[in-house]
Amino acid sequence: MTKKILLCVPVLVVTVFLTLQAGAQSGTLAATPPMGWNSWNHFAGKVTDADVRAAADALVSSGMRDAGYIYVNIDDTWEGQRDAQGVIHTNSKFPDMKALADYVHSKGLKLGIYSSPGPKTCAGYPGSYGHEEQDAKTYAAWGIDYLKYDSCSFGDIMRRESGGDREKAFEIQKAAYKKMHDALVATGRPIVFSMCQYGWFHTWEWGPEVGGNLWRTTGDINDHYARMAAIGFSQAGLAKFAGPGHWNDPDMLEVGNGGMTNDEYRTHMTLWVILAAPLLAGNDLSKMTPETLALLTNKEVVAVDQDPLGKQGDRAWAEGPSEIWTKPLSGGATAIGMFNRADSDEPVTLDLKAVGVDEHARLRDLWKGQEVEATDGKYTVLIPKHGAVLLKASGQENQISENCSRPMSEHLGLPCTPIKTARMQLPPQGSR
Ligand code: GLA
Repeated sequence: MTKKILLCVPVLVVTVFLTLQAGAQSGTLAATPPMGWNSWNHFAGKVTDADVRAAADALVSSGMRDAGYIYVNIDDTWEGQRDAQGVIHTNSKFPDMKALADYVHSKGLKLGIYSSPGPKTCAGYPGSYGHEEQDAKTYAAWGIDYLKYDSCSFGDIMRRESGGDREKAFEIQKAAYKKMHDALVATGRPIVFSMCQYGWFHTWEWGPEVGGNLWRTTGDINDHYARMAAIGFSQAGLAKFAGPGHWNDPDMLEVGNGGMTNDEYRTHMTLWVILAAPLLAGNDLSKMTPETLALLTNKEVVAVDQDPLGKQGDRAWAEGPSEIWTKPLSGGATAIGMFNRADSDEPVTLDLKAVGVDEHARLRDLWKGQEVEATDGKYTVLIPKHGAVLLKASGQENQISENCSRPMSEHLGLPCTPIKTARMQLPPQGSR
Protein backbone atom coordinates (compact mmCIF):
# COMPACT_ATOMS: atom_id res chain seq x y z
CA MET A 1 0.00 0.00 0.00
CA THR A 2 2.70 2.49 1.13
CA LYS A 3 4.80 1.33 -1.80
CA LYS A 4 1.90 2.11 -4.15
CA ILE A 5 1.54 5.61 -2.71
CA LEU A 6 5.26 6.19 -3.03
CA LEU A 7 5.12 5.13 -6.67
CA CYS A 8 2.15 7.42 -7.30
CA VAL A 9 3.79 10.57 -5.92
CA PRO A 10 6.33 11.09 -8.73
CA VAL A 11 3.60 10.39 -11.32
CA LEU A 12 1.41 13.01 -9.67
CA VAL A 13 4.25 15.54 -9.54
CA VAL A 14 5.05 14.99 -13.22
CA THR A 15 1.36 15.26 -14.17
CA VAL A 16 0.95 18.51 -12.25
CA PHE A 17 4.16 19.87 -13.79
CA LEU A 18 3.06 18.99 -17.33
CA THR A 19 -0.39 20.45 -16.76
CA LEU A 20 1.13 23.68 -15.49
CA GLN A 21 3.50 23.74 -18.44
CA ALA A 22 0.74 23.23 -20.97
CA GLY A 23 -1.17 26.11 -19.46
CA ALA A 24 1.84 28.40 -19.17
CA GLN A 25 0.41 30.96 -21.61
CA SER A 26 -3.16 30.87 -20.38
CA GLY A 27 -4.93 30.82 -17.02
CA THR A 28 -4.08 33.81 -14.91
CA LEU A 29 -1.57 35.32 -17.33
CA ALA A 30 -2.94 38.83 -18.09
CA ALA A 31 -6.03 38.18 -15.96
CA THR A 32 -6.47 41.96 -16.09
CA PRO A 33 -5.14 44.21 -18.90
CA PRO A 34 -1.30 44.34 -18.70
CA MET A 35 0.16 47.54 -17.25
CA GLY A 36 3.66 48.87 -17.59
CA TRP A 37 5.87 50.97 -19.83
CA ASN A 38 7.09 50.58 -23.42
CA SER A 39 10.08 52.32 -24.98
CA TRP A 40 8.68 53.07 -28.45
CA ASN A 41 6.44 56.14 -28.14
CA HIS A 42 9.15 58.30 -26.61
CA PHE A 43 12.54 56.70 -27.36
CA ALA A 44 11.76 54.86 -30.63
CA GLY A 45 15.01 53.61 -32.22
CA LYS A 46 17.26 55.41 -29.72
CA VAL A 47 16.40 53.27 -26.70
CA THR A 48 19.37 51.87 -24.74
CA ASP A 49 19.97 49.61 -21.77
CA ALA A 50 20.48 52.74 -19.64
CA ASP A 51 17.06 54.15 -20.68
CA VAL A 52 15.37 50.88 -19.74
CA ARG A 53 17.10 50.81 -16.34
CA ALA A 54 16.11 54.44 -15.78
CA ALA A 55 12.50 53.58 -16.65
CA ALA A 56 12.56 50.69 -14.16
CA ASP A 57 14.02 52.97 -11.46
CA ALA A 58 11.37 55.62 -12.17
CA LEU A 59 8.52 53.10 -12.07
CA VAL A 60 9.56 52.32 -8.52
CA SER A 61 10.43 55.81 -7.26
CA SER A 62 7.32 57.45 -8.77
CA GLY A 63 4.96 54.89 -7.23
CA MET A 64 3.86 53.67 -10.66
CA ARG A 65 4.92 50.10 -9.91
CA ASP A 66 2.74 50.11 -6.83
CA ALA A 67 -0.12 51.52 -8.91
CA GLY A 68 0.14 48.40 -11.11
CA TYR A 69 2.63 49.34 -13.86
CA ILE A 70 4.89 46.29 -13.74
CA TYR A 71 6.00 45.46 -17.30
CA VAL A 72 9.10 47.21 -18.62
CA ASN A 73 8.87 46.56 -22.35
CA ILE A 74 11.74 47.06 -24.77
CA ASP A 75 10.32 47.69 -28.23
CA ASP A 76 12.10 47.46 -31.58
CA THR A 77 15.86 48.10 -32.13
CA TRP A 78 17.46 45.94 -29.43
CA GLU A 79 18.30 43.20 -31.97
CA GLY A 80 21.83 42.37 -33.10
CA GLN A 81 22.95 39.62 -35.47
CA ARG A 82 22.47 35.86 -35.40
CA ASP A 83 25.54 33.69 -34.80
CA ALA A 84 26.54 30.64 -36.85
CA GLN A 85 24.04 28.51 -34.89
CA GLY A 86 21.26 31.00 -35.60
CA VAL A 87 21.07 32.30 -32.04
CA ILE A 88 19.99 35.96 -31.87
CA HIS A 89 22.25 38.41 -30.02
CA THR A 90 21.63 41.93 -28.81
CA ASN A 91 23.23 44.95 -30.48
CA SER A 92 25.67 47.29 -28.73
CA LYS A 93 22.86 49.36 -27.15
CA PHE A 94 22.01 46.32 -24.99
CA PRO A 95 25.28 44.75 -23.83
CA ASP A 96 23.74 42.05 -21.61
CA MET A 97 20.04 41.24 -21.78
CA LYS A 98 20.19 38.66 -18.97
CA ALA A 99 21.80 41.21 -16.64
CA LEU A 100 19.14 43.75 -17.62
CA ALA A 101 16.38 41.24 -16.88
CA ASP A 102 17.97 40.48 -13.49
CA TYR A 103 18.06 44.21 -12.72
CA VAL A 104 14.42 44.73 -13.73
CA HIS A 105 13.34 41.67 -11.74
CA SER A 106 15.27 42.86 -8.68
CA LYS A 107 12.94 45.90 -8.66
CA GLY A 108 9.81 43.73 -8.52
CA LEU A 109 9.13 44.38 -12.22
CA LYS A 110 8.93 42.22 -15.35
CA LEU A 111 10.79 42.57 -18.63
CA GLY A 112 9.25 42.57 -22.10
CA ILE A 113 10.85 42.28 -25.51
CA TYR A 114 9.86 42.68 -29.16
CA SER A 115 10.16 40.66 -32.37
CA SER A 116 8.45 39.89 -35.67
CA PRO A 117 7.21 36.74 -37.40
CA GLY A 118 8.87 38.20 -40.51
CA PRO A 119 12.59 38.19 -41.35
CA LYS A 120 12.80 41.92 -40.47
CA THR A 121 11.15 44.02 -37.78
CA CYS A 122 9.39 47.26 -38.69
CA ALA A 123 12.63 49.18 -38.02
CA GLY A 124 14.60 46.74 -40.22
CA TYR A 125 16.27 44.63 -37.49
CA PRO A 126 16.32 40.79 -37.57
CA GLY A 127 12.92 39.18 -36.92
CA SER A 128 12.15 35.62 -35.80
CA TYR A 129 11.19 34.13 -39.19
CA GLY A 130 12.54 30.55 -39.28
CA HIS A 131 13.97 30.91 -35.76
CA GLU A 132 10.82 30.91 -33.65
CA GLU A 133 11.67 28.06 -31.24
CA GLN A 134 15.24 29.22 -30.93
CA ASP A 135 14.21 32.80 -30.13
CA ALA A 136 11.56 31.71 -27.63
CA LYS A 137 14.24 29.67 -25.83
CA THR A 138 16.64 32.61 -25.86
CA TYR A 139 13.98 34.93 -24.40
CA ALA A 140 13.16 32.39 -21.68
CA ALA A 141 16.86 31.97 -20.84
CA TRP A 142 17.23 35.74 -20.54
CA GLY A 143 14.21 35.89 -18.20
CA ILE A 144 11.77 37.64 -20.52
CA ASP A 145 8.15 37.89 -19.34
CA TYR A 146 6.36 39.53 -22.28
CA LEU A 147 6.73 39.40 -26.06
CA LYS A 148 5.28 41.94 -28.50
CA TYR A 149 5.19 40.16 -31.84
CA ASP A 150 4.85 42.66 -34.68
CA SER A 151 3.91 41.47 -38.17
CA CYS A 152 6.03 44.00 -40.15
CA SER A 153 7.82 42.22 -43.03
CA PHE A 154 5.69 39.11 -42.53
CA GLY A 155 3.04 40.95 -44.57
CA ASP A 156 5.20 40.48 -47.70
CA ILE A 157 5.63 36.75 -47.03
CA MET A 158 1.91 36.37 -46.46
CA ARG A 159 1.07 38.16 -49.72
CA ARG A 160 3.64 36.17 -51.68
CA GLU A 161 2.74 32.75 -50.29
CA SER A 162 -1.01 33.29 -50.59
CA GLY A 163 -0.80 34.49 -54.19
CA GLY A 164 -3.35 37.13 -53.27
CA ASP A 165 -5.92 34.61 -51.95
CA ARG A 166 -7.43 36.25 -48.87
CA GLU A 167 -8.39 33.00 -47.12
CA LYS A 168 -4.91 31.59 -47.62
CA ALA A 169 -3.33 34.81 -46.38
CA PHE A 170 -5.48 34.63 -43.27
CA GLU A 171 -4.42 31.04 -42.54
CA ILE A 172 -0.75 31.96 -43.06
CA GLN A 173 -1.08 34.90 -40.68
CA LYS A 174 -2.80 32.79 -38.02
CA ALA A 175 -0.22 30.01 -38.30
CA ALA A 176 2.66 32.46 -37.85
CA TYR A 177 1.26 33.75 -34.56
CA LYS A 178 0.33 30.27 -33.33
CA LYS A 179 3.85 29.07 -34.10
CA MET A 180 5.45 31.63 -31.81
CA HIS A 181 2.83 31.11 -29.12
CA ASP A 182 3.50 27.36 -29.15
CA ALA A 183 7.23 28.04 -28.97
CA LEU A 184 6.72 30.28 -25.92
CA VAL A 185 4.56 27.66 -24.20
CA ALA A 186 7.19 25.01 -24.89
CA THR A 187 9.75 27.01 -22.88
CA GLY A 188 7.64 26.50 -19.74
CA ARG A 189 8.11 30.16 -18.79
CA PRO A 190 4.93 32.27 -18.53
CA ILE A 191 5.40 34.93 -21.23
CA VAL A 192 2.57 37.33 -22.09
CA PHE A 193 1.96 37.14 -25.84
CA SER A 194 1.13 40.53 -27.36
CA MET A 195 0.02 40.33 -30.99
CA CYS A 196 0.69 43.35 -33.14
CA GLN A 197 -0.71 43.08 -36.66
CA TYR A 198 -2.90 46.17 -36.59
CA GLY A 199 -6.27 44.35 -36.51
CA TRP A 200 -5.79 42.57 -39.86
CA PHE A 201 -8.44 39.90 -40.49
CA HIS A 202 -10.38 41.08 -37.39
CA THR A 203 -7.76 39.81 -34.97
CA TRP A 204 -10.20 40.01 -32.05
CA GLU A 205 -12.17 37.10 -33.57
CA TRP A 206 -9.24 34.65 -33.60
CA GLY A 207 -6.61 36.15 -31.28
CA PRO A 208 -7.45 33.84 -28.35
CA GLU A 209 -7.34 30.79 -30.63
CA VAL A 210 -3.67 31.40 -31.42
CA GLY A 211 -2.79 32.24 -27.81
CA GLY A 212 -2.87 36.05 -27.87
CA ASN A 213 -3.15 37.67 -24.46
CA LEU A 214 -3.68 41.01 -26.21
CA TRP A 215 -3.81 42.14 -29.80
CA ARG A 216 -3.58 45.50 -31.48
CA THR A 217 -6.86 46.52 -33.07
CA THR A 218 -5.56 49.41 -35.21
CA GLY A 219 -2.53 51.02 -36.82
CA ASP A 220 -0.11 53.11 -34.75
CA ILE A 221 -1.12 55.79 -32.30
CA ASN A 222 0.76 59.09 -32.21
CA ASP A 223 0.90 62.03 -29.81
CA HIS A 224 -1.95 64.05 -31.36
CA TYR A 225 -5.51 64.33 -30.13
CA ALA A 226 -6.99 63.60 -33.57
CA ARG A 227 -5.18 60.26 -33.92
CA MET A 228 -5.73 59.17 -30.31
CA ALA A 229 -9.44 60.04 -30.56
CA ALA A 230 -9.81 58.35 -33.96
CA ILE A 231 -8.39 55.13 -32.50
CA GLY A 232 -10.13 55.27 -29.12
CA PHE A 233 -13.62 56.17 -30.32
CA SER A 234 -13.44 53.58 -33.12
CA GLN A 235 -13.33 50.73 -30.62
CA ALA A 236 -17.13 50.55 -30.28
CA GLY A 237 -18.46 47.05 -30.78
CA LEU A 238 -15.31 45.18 -29.74
CA ALA A 239 -16.27 44.67 -26.08
CA LYS A 240 -17.47 41.11 -26.47
CA PHE A 241 -14.07 39.95 -27.70
CA ALA A 242 -12.19 40.98 -24.54
CA GLY A 243 -11.98 39.20 -21.22
CA PRO A 244 -9.52 37.92 -18.62
CA GLY A 245 -6.41 36.67 -20.41
CA HIS A 246 -7.28 38.19 -23.81
CA TRP A 247 -7.63 41.92 -24.43
CA ASN A 248 -8.18 44.32 -27.30
CA ASP A 249 -5.20 46.67 -27.55
CA PRO A 250 -5.85 50.14 -29.04
CA ASP A 251 -2.07 50.82 -28.72
CA MET A 252 0.14 52.30 -26.04
CA LEU A 253 -0.31 55.50 -24.08
CA GLU A 254 1.02 58.89 -25.19
CA VAL A 255 0.22 60.57 -21.85
CA GLY A 256 3.02 62.97 -20.93
CA ASN A 257 4.73 63.09 -24.34
CA GLY A 258 3.77 66.73 -24.85
CA GLY A 259 1.59 66.70 -27.97
CA MET A 260 -1.77 66.94 -26.21
CA THR A 261 -3.28 69.16 -23.54
CA ASN A 262 -3.92 67.83 -20.06
CA ASP A 263 -7.65 67.60 -20.86
CA GLU A 264 -6.84 65.57 -23.98
CA TYR A 265 -4.58 63.23 -22.03
CA ARG A 266 -7.38 62.86 -19.46
CA THR A 267 -9.65 61.79 -22.34
CA HIS A 268 -6.95 59.34 -23.48
CA MET A 269 -6.80 57.71 -20.03
CA THR A 270 -10.58 57.80 -19.52
CA LEU A 271 -11.23 56.13 -22.85
CA TRP A 272 -8.48 53.54 -22.36
CA VAL A 273 -9.73 52.48 -18.91
CA ILE A 274 -13.33 52.25 -20.19
CA LEU A 275 -11.96 50.03 -22.99
CA ALA A 276 -10.14 47.77 -20.49
CA ALA A 277 -7.09 48.53 -22.63
CA PRO A 278 -3.56 47.56 -21.68
CA LEU A 279 -2.03 50.60 -19.94
CA LEU A 280 1.51 50.88 -21.26
CA ALA A 281 2.92 54.31 -20.52
CA GLY A 282 5.00 55.61 -23.42
CA ASN A 283 6.62 58.71 -21.95
CA ASP A 284 10.06 59.39 -20.48
CA LEU A 285 9.36 58.34 -16.89
CA SER A 286 12.56 59.92 -15.61
CA LYS A 287 11.26 63.39 -16.62
CA MET A 288 7.62 63.29 -15.69
CA THR A 289 5.56 66.25 -14.51
CA PRO A 290 3.32 65.82 -11.43
CA GLU A 291 0.30 66.26 -13.76
CA THR A 292 1.42 63.34 -15.93
CA LEU A 293 2.03 61.15 -12.90
CA ALA A 294 -1.39 62.06 -11.48
CA LEU A 295 -3.07 61.11 -14.77
CA LEU A 296 -1.28 57.77 -14.94
CA THR A 297 -1.71 56.75 -11.32
CA ASN A 298 -5.15 57.92 -10.18
CA LYS A 299 -6.13 54.85 -8.16
CA GLU A 300 -9.86 54.96 -8.75
CA VAL A 301 -9.36 55.49 -12.49
CA VAL A 302 -6.84 52.65 -12.85
CA ALA A 303 -9.23 50.41 -10.86
CA VAL A 304 -11.81 50.80 -13.65
CA ASP A 305 -9.30 49.38 -16.14
CA GLN A 306 -8.22 46.62 -13.79
CA ASP A 307 -11.68 45.66 -12.57
CA PRO A 308 -11.67 41.89 -11.93
CA LEU A 309 -14.91 41.37 -13.87
CA GLY A 310 -12.79 41.93 -16.98
CA LYS A 311 -15.49 43.50 -19.15
CA GLN A 312 -14.61 46.04 -21.82
CA GLY A 313 -16.89 49.08 -22.12
CA ASP A 314 -18.76 50.37 -25.13
CA ARG A 315 -20.50 53.45 -26.50
CA ALA A 316 -23.92 53.78 -24.87
CA TRP A 317 -25.07 57.14 -26.28
CA ALA A 318 -23.88 59.80 -28.72
CA GLU A 319 -25.26 63.07 -29.97
CA GLY A 320 -23.10 65.30 -32.16
CA PRO A 321 -19.71 65.61 -30.48
CA SER A 322 -20.96 64.34 -27.09
CA GLU A 323 -20.50 60.67 -26.27
CA ILE A 324 -21.20 58.50 -23.25
CA TRP A 325 -19.53 55.13 -22.83
CA THR A 326 -20.24 52.59 -20.09
CA LYS A 327 -18.26 49.69 -18.66
CA PRO A 328 -19.75 47.08 -16.32
CA LEU A 329 -17.78 46.68 -13.09
CA SER A 330 -17.79 44.01 -10.41
CA GLY A 331 -20.37 44.37 -7.62
CA GLY A 332 -23.02 45.62 -10.04
CA ALA A 333 -21.39 49.03 -10.49
CA THR A 334 -20.87 50.83 -13.82
CA ALA A 335 -18.11 53.14 -15.01
CA ILE A 336 -19.45 55.98 -17.15
CA GLY A 337 -17.17 58.02 -19.43
CA MET A 338 -18.62 61.34 -20.61
CA PHE A 339 -16.77 62.88 -23.56
CA ASN A 340 -16.85 66.23 -25.30
CA ARG A 341 -15.24 65.84 -28.73
CA ALA A 342 -16.11 69.39 -29.74
CA ASP A 343 -13.52 72.13 -30.27
CA SER A 344 -15.19 74.24 -27.56
CA ASP A 345 -16.27 73.67 -23.95
CA GLU A 346 -19.74 72.12 -23.92
CA PRO A 347 -22.29 70.92 -21.38
CA VAL A 348 -22.93 67.18 -21.62
CA THR A 349 -25.99 65.59 -19.99
CA LEU A 350 -25.97 62.04 -18.74
CA ASP A 351 -29.43 60.49 -18.63
CA LEU A 352 -28.84 57.47 -16.40
CA LYS A 353 -31.86 55.52 -17.64
CA ALA A 354 -30.91 56.11 -21.28
CA VAL A 355 -27.54 54.41 -20.73
CA GLY A 356 -29.03 51.51 -18.78
CA VAL A 357 -28.05 52.64 -15.27
CA ASP A 358 -30.40 52.80 -12.28
CA GLU A 359 -31.55 56.42 -12.01
CA HIS A 360 -31.14 56.32 -8.22
CA ALA A 361 -27.52 55.17 -8.46
CA ARG A 362 -24.89 56.84 -6.32
CA LEU A 363 -22.44 58.75 -8.54
CA ARG A 364 -18.78 59.47 -7.94
CA ASP A 365 -16.51 61.59 -10.12
CA LEU A 366 -13.35 59.47 -10.17
CA TRP A 367 -10.90 62.11 -11.43
CA LYS A 368 -12.07 64.53 -8.73
CA GLY A 369 -12.57 61.86 -6.06
CA GLN A 370 -15.93 63.40 -5.16
CA GLU A 371 -19.53 62.24 -4.92
CA VAL A 372 -21.82 64.07 -7.37
CA GLU A 373 -25.61 64.19 -7.54
CA ALA A 374 -27.98 63.48 -10.39
CA THR A 375 -31.28 65.36 -10.46
CA ASP A 376 -34.25 63.33 -11.64
CA GLY A 377 -31.85 60.75 -13.01
CA LYS A 378 -29.88 63.32 -15.02
CA TYR A 379 -26.42 64.75 -14.49
CA THR A 380 -25.16 67.72 -16.52
CA VAL A 381 -21.57 68.86 -16.47
CA LEU A 382 -19.58 71.40 -18.47
CA ILE A 383 -16.74 69.50 -20.14
CA PRO A 384 -13.77 71.35 -21.60
CA LYS A 385 -12.91 71.06 -25.29
CA HIS A 386 -11.70 67.47 -26.04
CA GLY A 387 -12.16 66.66 -22.34
CA ALA A 388 -13.78 63.87 -20.37
CA VAL A 389 -15.43 63.06 -17.06
CA LEU A 390 -15.28 59.60 -15.53
CA LEU A 391 -18.03 58.53 -13.12
CA LYS A 392 -18.68 55.40 -11.17
CA ALA A 393 -22.33 54.56 -10.64
CA SER A 394 -23.11 52.22 -7.81
CA GLY A 395 -26.63 50.88 -8.00
CA GLN A 396 -29.19 50.07 -5.30
CA GLU A 397 -27.90 46.57 -4.71
CA ASN A 398 -24.41 47.86 -4.36
CA GLN A 399 -25.46 50.51 -1.87
CA ILE A 400 -27.20 47.90 0.24
CA SER A 401 -24.22 45.59 0.43
CA GLU A 402 -21.73 48.39 0.99
CA ASN A 403 -23.65 50.68 3.28
CA CYS A 404 -26.17 48.66 5.21
CA SER A 405 -25.21 46.78 8.33
CA ARG A 406 -27.28 43.60 8.00
CA PRO A 407 -27.00 42.37 11.62
CA MET A 408 -28.07 45.82 12.84
CA SER A 409 -31.03 45.92 10.42
CA GLU A 410 -32.07 42.42 11.37
CA HIS A 411 -31.73 43.20 15.07
CA LEU A 412 -34.01 46.21 14.68
CA GLY A 413 -36.36 44.22 12.47
CA LEU A 414 -35.76 46.65 9.60
CA PRO A 415 -35.23 45.76 5.97
CA CYS A 416 -31.69 46.38 4.74
CA THR A 417 -32.06 49.79 3.11
CA PRO A 418 -29.81 51.84 0.86
CA ILE A 419 -27.61 54.57 2.27
CA LYS A 420 -29.85 57.61 1.68
CA THR A 421 -32.80 56.04 3.55
CA ALA A 422 -30.51 54.43 6.09
CA ARG A 423 -29.01 57.82 6.95
CA MET A 424 -32.47 59.16 7.65
CA GLN A 425 -33.54 56.20 9.77
CA LEU A 426 -30.48 55.42 11.84
CA PRO A 427 -28.78 57.92 14.11
CA PRO A 428 -25.06 58.48 13.56
CA GLN A 429 -22.72 56.25 15.56
CA GLY A 430 -22.13 57.38 19.10
CA SER A 431 -25.25 59.53 19.37
CA ARG A 432 -28.10 58.70 21.83
C1 GLA B 1 5.18 49.13 -35.52
C2 GLA B 1 4.36 49.00 -34.24
C3 GLA B 1 4.83 50.04 -33.24
C4 GLA B 1 6.32 49.85 -32.96
C5 GLA B 1 7.11 49.90 -34.26
C6 GLA B 1 8.58 49.52 -34.04
O1 GLA B 1 4.95 50.31 -36.19
O2 GLA B 1 3.00 49.15 -34.52
O3 GLA B 1 4.09 49.95 -32.05
O4 GLA B 1 6.50 48.61 -32.32
O5 GLA B 1 6.57 49.00 -35.23
O6 GLA B 1 9.30 49.46 -35.21
